[in-house]
Amino acid sequence: STQKLWGGRFTETVAKYVDEFGASIGFDQLLAAEDITGSLAHVKMLKKTGILPAEDVDQIVAGLETLEKRLQAGQLEFSTVNEDIHMNIEALLTAEIGPVAGKLHTARSRNDQVATDFHLYLKHQLPKILARLQALEEVLVEKAAANVTTVMPGYTHLQHAQPISYAHYLLAYYQMFRRDIERFKFNIQHTDISPLGAAALAGTTFPIDREYSAQLLGFSQVYHNSLDAVSDRDFVLEFLSNAAILMMHLSRFCEELVSWSSYEFNYISLSDQFSTGSSIMPQKKNPDMAELIRGKAGRVYGNLMGLLTVMKAIPLAYNKDLQEDKEGAFDTVTTVLTSLHVFTGMLATLTVNKAQMAHATTNDFSNATELADYLANKGMPFREAHAIVGKLVLEGIQKHRPLQDIPLSEFQEISPLIEADVYHDLDAKVAVERRHSLGGTGFDQIRQELKRAQAQLAKD
Ligand code: ARG
Repeated sequence: STQKLWGGRFTETVAKYVDEFGASIGFDQLLAAEDITGSLAHVKMLKKTGILPAEDVDQIVAGLETLEKRLQAGQLEFSTVNEDIHMNIEALLTAEIGPVAGKLHTARSRNDQVATDFHLYLKHQLPKILARLQALEEVLVEKAAANVTTVMPGYTHLQHAQPISYAHYLLAYYQMFRRDIERFKFNIQHTDISPLGAAALAGTTFPIDREYSAQLLGFSQVYHNSLDAVSDRDFVLEFLSNAAILMMHLSRFCEELVSWSSYEFNYISLSDQFSTGSSIMPQKKNPDMAELIRGKAGRVYGNLMGLLTVMKAIPLAYNKDLQEDKEGAFDTVTTVLTSLHVFTGMLATLTVNKAQMAHATTNDFSNATELADYLANKGMPFREAHAIVGKLVLEGIQKHRPLQDIPLSEFQEISPLIEADVYHDLDAKVAVERRHSLGGTGFDQIRQELKRAQAQLAKD
């Protein structure tokens, strides 16, 4: 490992295992396309400003474009001798066009170069994630539209609480993913800033035009402090935080898919296409994909914690610690994209066991609030009504008799306020339908929310 691009002031060479330890080419070759794009913009800026003669720039541009084509054809070979993607590309360019390649690095450093590459990379990935989220939202809305009147138990503490519509449940997730979309969109703003031209840390004496290179790269802004430009990884941390929150949402949903597809719940059934069998138990159909997405949430949290910890004590400006910023982010992009893809397919193909959901609301006393509300509506203080209904529930549990099976005569002994219309209110479907309050589970409320969601999706 002689012939380092930076070898001038060195008399001893670095041992191979040390070189390998310091090298990032193993993973940052993922930035090859961005690195070439960044170099093209930089060198075109050097031409426009007259910093480099046009003939030199034209040769460099032609060389970079050749490398670009070879990259696309899978023909570029990288080596740890050249440490990272930036020096690998420069070495390949030198092999292609000779010593004039050495002029490319005028008024630039790997520090602003790597930051530029990473901004470009994330700027390209965020729209892919947004597109997958949009596809998921569309499936959620479709499924909700088909299930407005599908009644099921709503839970608190995993105990039957009050009946709700399955569509209302689905639209709760619609709202969560909606906020995820907003967060990733905001993330684009902090990613869409050009660090190029910050050079090593302090700017440069060359008369560069940072706005021009930013414009060529499609960045809408430039960093206004060179120290910040080369050491800021907030945009990556924001991405990882947003990804962690998104994975948390997917994981909660998956937790419910896993339990709801169990024999005990039997509310839903996952398609065979998204399930796996057992190598020993012939009857098994396992919700592996839902479990795996739930597990991958942990992996993404780990990537967030990893980078937060790397960043917490790095003095300004660039330090080699920053090379640890990439793998977790790359891994998170892949994890989020694949998890969203699989999850959306799983959701689109699952079947809903409406009869079982409805059945679960019939003997579970989840209409107890209805009876208390009924009495309160007739003028009884709610606290008193609560106590009376509580006693009826206790008795009902002992006698295995749900509230709607109590004869009117017995009801009237308890309170003369109760009349025959009570049975209407005790019906689970009616209990859902009547929850007209804004954001409630009432069928009309859900229909309004569906319209709002459909309009939002059409706008995005
Ligand atoms: N491979 C390095 C990274 O990923 C590029 C920047 C290196 N700069 C330096 N002065 N060592 O961060």
